[in-house]
Amino acid sequence: MDIVTTPQLIAGNWKMNGLLAARGEIAALAAGLKGRARLPEVLVCPPATLLHGFSGAVAGTPIKLGGQTCHTAAAGAHTGDVSAEMLKDAGASYVIVGHSERRTDHNEANALVAAQARAAWRAGLSAIICIGESEAQRSAGQMEKTLADQIAYSVPSETTVANAAVAYEPIWAIGTGKTASLDDIEGAHAFIRARLEASLGPAGRSVRLLYGGSVKPSNAKEILSTRGVDGVLVGGASLKAADFLAIVDGARVAV
Ligand code: 13P
Repeated sequence: MDIVTTPQLIAGNWKMNGLLAARGEIAALAAGLKGRARLPEVLVCPPATLLHGFSGAVAGTPIKLGGQTCHTAAAGAHTGDVSAEMLKDAGASYVIVGHSERRTDHNEANALVAAQARAAWRAGLSAIICIGESEAQRSAGQMEKTLADQIAYSVPSETTVANAAVAYEPIWAIGTGKTASLDDIEGAHAFIRARLEASLGPAGRSVRLLYGGSVKPSNAKEILSTRGVDGVLVGGASLKAADFLAIVDGARVAV
């Protein structure tokens, strides 16, 4: 059997940042990637308002677009919400679900996150399912239980490498400049991988496992070289093309 290796996924989560003028950053990113023979998978998840405006700028480039959350329904009376079908229609091929900022700000619980992943699949999108413990959970010795529960209840049984990635984002490392140590990342990823294999079977072996939390140009390469890391989910450092390109450069690519 051929061994198929999935490229690392370098994903930028712009969060609630960016106006249409930020198209210039996408153009700069596209220009920086041009002519590179070997690339990881490169994804930018801007606010939903920018997806359509960016879709022209990424056409003919390796850059993919994604949303940051979605409603579970395809359409209906849900004021202010955006469906996975709408994200797809606007140019997305991915959607992030279960980000800790959504879990905290909007009380999104595990079961809802699983339903959002399934909504993504219904619309033909891949889901990036986020999990991660808080500082309080970590210091109370609850890290593994938190991750195990999140995997059990927010990663659906139909998850495969073709339709999803799982992102480990320790909440205490998000936007704090406090990156997890490489040992912490390796240990957490090994734990998550074992749980994914236990719950998904063979699919749990190949689904990509991303790290997120204060990834920046200066630490991307060592994180992306850490055992068990199949990509990164980058917040602040994804907003500027030059920084994001430097992170892309840290990816392991097949030779
Ligand atoms: P920062 O890279 O800004 O810490 O954010 C990480 C994150 O939440 C990505 O989803």
